This record gives sequence, C-alpha cells and structure tokens, in this order.
Amino acid sequence: MKNLTIEKAYAFLENNSLKDNDQLMKHSINVAIVAERIADELGLNGKKAYVLGLIHDIGKKHETKVEMRHILDGYNFLYNLGYENEARVCLTHSFYDKKLVKKILYNKGAGFTRDEIRFIISYINKREFDMYDKIVQLADNMGGTNGIMTVERKRMEIILKEGISDVTEVSLRGIFNIQNEIELKLNHSVYKAFPEIIDNINKTLIKDVIKM
Ligand SMILES: [Fe+2]
Repeated sequence: MKNLTIEKAYAFLENNSLKDNDQLMKHSINVAIVAERIADELGLNGKKAYVLGLIHDIGKKHETKVEMRHILDGYNFLYNLGYENEARVCLTHSFYDKKLVKKILYNKGAGFTRDEIRFIISYINKREFDMYDKIVQLADNMGGTNGIMTVERKRMEIILKEGISDVTEVSLRGIFNIQNEIELKLNHSVYKAFPEIIDNINKTLIKDVIKM
C-alpha cells in the first residue's frame, strides 16, 4: 500500500478542476490545517492528517450535479492509484454516525446505483472509524472557505442555506459526539488550539454569515 505525500496530494488538487474552484481549494486547505493541528495535539501523525484533510473532497473534481457522488468518485480515484488509506476518508468523511449511511445513500437525488449503495454500506459497516476518520470529519466542519470556524457556526450556515431535513439532527448529534470524543482525549476544548477562530469571529459581521 502506498502513502500519499503532501506534494503528490497538492498535485492531485492542482491537476483537476479543483484548481478552478477557488472555494473548494480554500476549504480543502483549511480542513488540512485543522486536521493536522488536531492530530498533533492528540500525539498522532499530523502530516498524515494534513494529507487526508487535503484530499477528502478530491472526488468533487468529477462532480456534476450530484453532491454525494463525490465520496465514491474520490474513493475510486485514489484506490485505483493504490492509495487505499487515503481513499478511505473519501468514503468515511460524511458519515458522522453509522445511522446516517442508509439515510444519505438512499436519499432521492444521491445518484448511486444499487450496487454502489451495497458496496458503500458494506465498506462502512465492516470498519470502525479510526481517529483519523474522526479528525477529518471534525476538520471538515471547521475548515471554511474564509478560514477556520467553530462547528456550531459552520453547521448553522449550512442549515440556513440548505434547510432542515430528516438527517439534520442525526448529523448534528453525530458530529458533536465526535467533537466530544476528541475533546475528552484532549482534556480541553478543541477550539483552544485555534486562536484564529476568535479573529475570524471578530472581523465578521453576522450579516456576512447569515443572509438577513
Ligand atoms: Fe469537505
């Protein structure tokens, strides 16, 4: 099994349409920064977490209209190149709770075939999420396009943009459970490692976050 280097991960981002998608590029880099710092704080491999954060949305290069397809497209892209470990976070990063798997996959408009759904369900059910999966899940909820933010604010923005569905509560409880698990290991708030969040909040007006 190969390990993806930071240089190669950036090359993947540069060589696909992510480079034309400034927002997604900024999001990916901020997720990488958050993932690295949390992993370092936990005494894990920060460089590995950085790479995983950087490539978690790599499947979005193939994306047309279907939002959820990127998890499988990203997985296949990296797996076929021999990056099995990195491919894994493409599939795991959206499922904060295993209860979400079927809800998300069978959601009308998710655009998966029956075989694809069967594959993803068995892949996720066979595995316990490890700390790197959880770090990327949390980092995905803190790395915005305009910097690093609290999970609470980032989720609120998403709710106000996309509305509330039957997966919203499970999803929110799932991500806050993961934050809680990480904070119990850290013995302090995860935000303590991110003083820039205060600056971001100080320089942002509420009307810039929420359309009034
Ligand atoms: Fe993401």
